[in-house]
Amino acid sequence: MSNPASPQSTQLLEDGAGSTFPSGFVWGAATAAYQIEGAVAEGGRTPSIWDTFSHTPGRVLHGHTGDVACDHYHRFSDDVKLMAELGLKAYRLSVAWPRIQPDGVGPGNQEGLDFYRRLVDELLEHDIEPWITLYHWDLPQSIEDAGGWPARDTAFRFAEYATLTHAALGDRVRNWITLNEPWCSAFLGYGSGVHAPGRTVPAEAVRSAHHLMLGHGLATQAMRAARPDHEVGVTLNLYAVSPQTDSPGDADAARRIDGLANRFFLDPILRGSYPADVVSDLAAVTDFGHVQDGDLDTISTPLSFLGINYYSRHVVAAPLEGVAPEPYWRAQSCWPGSEQVRFVTRGVPVTDMNWEIDAPGLVEVLQLVHRDYPELPLYITENGSAFVDELVDGQVDDGDRLGYFDAHLRACHTAIASGVPLRGYFAWSLLDNYEWAWGYTKRFGMVYVDYDSQLRIPKASARWYAGVIRRNGLTAQ
Ligand code: FCB
Repeated sequence: MSNPASPQSTQLLEDGAGSTFPSGFVWGAATAAYQIEGAVAEGGRTPSIWDTFSHTPGRVLHGHTGDVACDHYHRFSDDVKLMAELGLKAYRLSVAWPRIQPDGVGPGNQEGLDFYRRLVDELLEHDIEPWITLYHWDLPQSIEDAGGWPARDTAFRFAEYATLTHAALGDRVRNWITLNEPWCSAFLGYGSGVHAPGRTVPAEAVRSAHHLMLGHGLATQAMRAARPDHEVGVTLNLYAVSPQTDSPGDADAARRIDGLANRFFLDPILRGSYPADVVSDLAAVTDFGHVQDGDLDTISTPLSFLGINYYSRHVVAAPLEGVAPEPYWRAQSCWPGSEQVRFVTRGVPVTDMNWEIDAPGLVEVLQLVHRDYPELPLYITENGSAFVDELVDGQVDDGDRLGYFDAHLRACHTAIASGVPLRGYFAWSLLDNYEWAWGYTKRFGMVYVDYDSQLRIPKASARWYAGVIRRNGLTAQ
């Protein structure tokens, strides 16, 4: 894993004064509809797979649901003011498919579209550039009932929804992300079942990945045709992956997990082919009969940028003779064909998600993507950490989160200085919110949310991030 370097550090300042980012660097924060909006039965919205899943006993910790979440649907105007106070230049939000197409098909629901129009207008009035993600996991339940992502037709349904949403908001929004983390939708939703809709059929997970990417390609073509001046990309959750030792068995484990987590999405989307080694790892799971002629051309429709969500590194090892894999989500069937791979913990500091903190992994991921796809502009569309926050005298002093952001932004700076065209960074997340199967137990926000009163309290990390944005850089360590 050696990396190319073509320094462009003339743009960057790195001296005793700290690290300055290129001018025009996009400083943002991100959220997702189901995690913050609430108001699940208002404005014509129908249930998504996450409503069904969260209301099914045993699926989500403590039975938490997104019914109210941060009540952002009613409080968006104050939330945008908060963003403006922090000086955000951009905000990545997702639109809820079941608000816009309550039946999963047919014309757009005016009330749903109006909500997003008001939100977008509010952002623009505050000079905050909206970045819209079309699919952040909330598939209309009616589409799941008709087969969900394992069904090919869902790709076409998604393209229809994307096209009408883009047509309705495209006069105000020029940055579009088709999918958020298709690995999670496919392999956690249909493989390990820890995410909605909770199915556990490995072959369906692989089919889902294909149909998600096909939907992405179709949507990209439609949006590009309608507005060639718009920026259209996709967000992948990429991991740094390394073997525990340099043994051939550990190297094979790393190849397998890098293959399924990263290359299984990067290669079709950016090169128009599936990685041959991963196809062969999956031979006992599927014969890829679901891939039709022309699909990969559609899937590899050129992009304006790639969005990368980075949280941690996977350190992996060969199976141990006679020892069952650790019963942890990462070792379960979200890795079809490679379930035997062991995920190793190194004893380094972790976040409240138990994810190892590894900022150098971010430099590695950025440099590897840039090495393989040198022309592609990159954005970090999510990066952040959950920690147990304590509200003391009305303040949250989240030094651990602040340290995480600082280390990862330094990693971004290092990558840019080595020639990576990283154009922006969206912190995850603006607000504490509904962390999927973990409910409200994990706080990722720069802004603390008191879920009883819905009071928002900017944490120390939010004030710090505001300073980073103001200075367009980091101060000396
Ligand atoms: C990502 C998701 C996002 C959030 C963070 C912590 O996988 O895209 O919604 O849950 O993880």
